[in-house]
Amino acid sequence: MTDNFYITTPIYYVNDRPHIGHAYTTILADVLARYHRLINVPTWFLTGTDEHGQKVQRAAEAAGMTPQQQADETVVRFKALWEKLEITNDDFIRTTEPRHQKVVQDILQDLFDRDEIYRADFEGWYCVTCERFYTEKDLVDGNCPEPGCGRPVDKITEPNYFFRMSKYQQWLIDYIEANPTFIQPDFRRNETLGFLRKELNDLCISRPKSRMAWGIELPFDADFVTYVWFDALVNYISAPGYLQDDARFRSHWPATCHLIGKDILTTHTVYWPTMLKAMDVPMPKTIFAHGWWLVGRDKMSKTAGNVVNPMAFADQYGVDAFRYFLMTEMSLGQDASFTEEAFIRRYNTDLANDLGNMLSRVTKLIGSYFDRKIPTPLEAGEAGERLRETTLRAAEELVASVERMRPDQGLNGLAAVVREANRYMELRQPWTLAKAEETRAEAGTVLYYAAEALRIISGMLYPVMPGKMSALREALGLPAGDPDFADLHEWGLLKPGTEIQKMKILFPRIQTKEPKVDAPASPREEKPMPESKESPVGVAQIEYTDFAKVALQTARILEAEKIEGADKLLRLQIDLGEEQRQIVAGIALSYTPEALIGKTIVVVSNLKPARIRKVDSNGMLLAAKSGDQLRLITVDGELPAGSSVG
Ligand code: MSP
Repeated sequence: MTDNFYITTPIYYVNDRPHIGHAYTTILADVLARYHRLINVPTWFLTGTDEHGQKVQRAAEAAGMTPQQQADETVVRFKALWEKLEITNDDFIRTTEPRHQKVVQDILQDLFDRDEIYRADFEGWYCVTCERFYTEKDLVDGNCPEPGCGRPVDKITEPNYFFRMSKYQQWLIDYIEANPTFIQPDFRRNETLGFLRKELNDLCISRPKSRMAWGIELPFDADFVTYVWFDALVNYISAPGYLQDDARFRSHWPATCHLIGKDILTTHTVYWPTMLKAMDVPMPKTIFAHGWWLVGRDKMSKTAGNVVNPMAFADQYGVDAFRYFLMTEMSLGQDASFTEEAFIRRYNTDLANDLGNMLSRVTKLIGSYFDRKIPTPLEAGEAGERLRETTLRAAEELVASVERMRPDQGLNGLAAVVREANRYMELRQPWTLAKAEETRAEAGTVLYYAAEALRIISGMLYPVMPGKMSALREALGLPAGDPDFADLHEWGLLKPGTEIQKMKILFPRIQTKEPKVDAPASPREEKPMPESKESPVGVAQIEYTDFAKVALQTARILEAEKIEGADKLLRLQIDLGEEQRQIVAGIALSYTPEALIGKTIVVVSNLKPARIRKVDSNGMLLAAKSGDQLRLITVDGELPAGSSVG
């Protein structure tokens, strides 16, 4: 464990509004920062915006603004998004701020004075998009060699200033080889070493104002501005106070982790270390490159028109679920695919079904049978002990997965524990145990164990879903605010007798747009019905048109409760896809309310509303009956709620 944790995101260009790639890196940094804060490691989390250079200048020209106006307008979008996504950055640096510009100029002057920067004529190939010069041999098929770019390049000859990067080539190779965790994942480290096998050129760090004036002026030549990368990378040290506040700087630097996307590997693993070496500043501990979010299988791009807007997505589906999806779906280092369907699938499975059902079962049962007080556990037996062990192990594994930069693995492990906890409940059937006086204490034990698992899981998920997990924890009677992480490695800390709270459904199921109640297929082509007046079960036969009047649909039971003074009746809240409804069902002798939550049933959805025992009922469920025994009609397999039956 490190003694302090300083994490950075790339600083984002202000040429356009933020997209899901920006949101991902920033949420990942936020999740890592939150975990470290919770385990009491002094943490500092920096993000910001890269406001100089050609991209921003061009965007400003296109929008009819000055580059500064362009930056000022766009930075607001980034800041608003970070606020929406509950990002807890400790600082936000803009490269147009004087505190940054001054440091860049001081560094340049110092390097120039020490002949680390020199002036020379330059001839090279320039990629406007990447804002980088290449030599003839760098080019791939005559085009920009940057992975994912490959655009045509322009030949340019002009005087410029150069940083003596080439003289650090061997030093850098040795450094990377001696420090295996410096560049992560390993295949990115190998990629950098591969790049360094070719001869490294000096780095052109200036742009003549005549060509591109939007940048930090070179302190030793007013005809030039600084190359945007030489300016941008410095943010990682200017923000914590390099050359301004030595004590503050030393309390943060070296950064524990520069989080970057794979497309900016070379600038971070070659330019930046050599710049720091020339400045005599210690190296960051790790540079971690994650993969890209593809949309389906395609690269996200404005031209393809498939750019995912994180603000709209979080508005529609909730910030916490969005954070959860991004963190669990991308296997860190690899590319991942973003689709709304994949999001809905994961949301409905992990959150609405598994976690949501577990919470509502536990709180319902404690509410109905234990006067809303956490019950006192007795011996839990083998299944309970297994749940205890699995939960504690998953909590440990989550912390370890954060340390090795694979939070996705730890989080998916927690999702598996939630499934296991639901299986434990199915196995022990606390809803049945609670009914009889002599087994009620046993039900209490099962519920205590399930609630304990929820306490630990919700604490561990808190950095990813702070809002929803706070609500969940408050429902369990736990104090609001950050969980104490030490408590999440210990079993048995929920205090029996603590009052649990009522809460709204944590993750309402998302309905997919499937065909709704269309009338069953026309029977015209089918064989005529037999002529007899009686069916096999002795009920008069009906015409197909009679049957077609009945709208049958699948529905999911969201809530179930007893109706006072009516032994046989339950009040159900059901999800019919496009609407939620209340129905009254006479199944209380065969089903406890808790056993019903989450079940898919079939209802007559066009029955006229009725009032039964002063309770409105908007539909009727179907059940098979034999004597007193009722069994619900359900659906064989997964179909969205509201599917037609016929
Ligand atoms: N300004 C530079 C970074 C300077 S850091 C000293 C820059 N900015 S950017 O806005 O273009 O991109 C910032 C980050 O977003 C990069 O790490 C990039 O990899 C990431 N992403 C851009 N598109 C992405 C996806 N589709 N998926 C994941 N991240 C991607 O580069």
